[in-house]
Amino acid sequence: MRAYRALRETVGQDYTHRLVDIDKRLIELAETRDPRAAEPGLITLRAGGKRLRPLLVLVCGAANRATEEHYQALIRAAVSVELVHTAGLVHDDVLDDAAIRRGKPTIYASHGTDVAVTTGDLLFALAFEELTHNNDPDQIEALSDATHGLVRGELVQREDAWDPRVTRERYFARCQLKTSCLFEGAARLGAYAGGRPELVEALFDFGTCLGLAFQMADDVLDMTADKTLTGKTRGADLLDGTVTLPFIIAAEHDPSLLELDLHSIQTVEQAEQLCDRVAATGATQEVIAEAHAQVAAAKSKLEGRVEEDEYEMFASIAEQAVSRGT
Ligand code: IPE
Ligand code: IPE
Ligand code: MG
Ligand code: MG
Repeated sequence: MRAYRALRETVGQDYTHRLVDIDKRLIELAETRDPRAAEPGLITLRAGGKRLRPLLVLVCGAANRATEEHYQALIRAAVSVELVHTAGLVHDDVLDDAAIRRGKPTIYASHGTDVAVTTGDLLFALAFEELTHNNDPDQIEALSDATHGLVRGELVQREDAWDPRVTRERYFARCQLKTSCLFEGAARLGAYAGGRPELVEALFDFGTCLGLAFQMADDVLDMTADKTLTGKTRGADLLDGTVTLPFIIAAEHDPSLLELDLHSIQTVEQAEQLCDRVAATGATQEVIAEAHAQVAAAKSKLEGRVEEDEYEMFASIAEQAVSRGT
């Protein structure tokens, strides 16, 4: 995936070689479990992903200059966040009836609902097990809050499914829960595990804005990019009845979209046609502009709070979260 390489180029070698430690630990953890339960999880973990959330943990904890003790705690925290994220994705693909993830068939598509559900459960368990080794209730609470947000976000998404009249407010509330919560959790974990609790609030706020920007970009990519960029099916959101900001804004320009019965979108071709119709209104450009505004908000949360070189790193991560080939 092109986006995956671009993010690593953004942060540079100083951090990318640390992601290798995280990848190793992720695989090692899953490999020690009953292969019947762990193998599907390993497929998803090995398929890669951008590793944005673990990277956020490392950057928030200043892993590049941490003591050995803090560094090990940051790696465990980063691993636990990626495990919760991966568990959430495996379950999300069941809820969203998704065919492709990280360029490969989803566990749901290849192994069925039962295996996908149990695989996600195992990954959640491994996440919390790994984090207990940091011996810090604040960190467990941070990961638990993030997981709770993820769950509530998925519920809101299901409640609003197939409704073309979903409001912007509901959309942003959903994104804050299903996406920002894990970025906020990663930020809190970085601050605590890296021994920088004084930064926890600023980093949390950075995570909130970054999550919103990231999800808006993801929702645009769902409509505009093919799977060679995203590793996911184009138009998957509409096929699943998920109404996102590009559609909401397009309907403000073209109210006839509000009359659409989304259940009538049954094939990838139909979904792609509707994506083209949404894009033709200019809505996707407007969403990208809103995402850039969130990037600016994210950056403002850290202005004057961290050193200049660190600030630049946070700024590039935030910008890269939106400029993923759009
Ligand atoms: C996918 O997250 C879920 C969303 C919040 C949109 P990513 O796009 O970070 O997924 P991976 O980890 O790179 O596969
Ligand atoms: C994010 O929303 C889902 C989670 C936070 C688990 P999406 O449903 O848009 O994520 P993708 O597009 O499937 O990765
Ligand atoms: Mg999904
Ligand atoms: Mg998506």
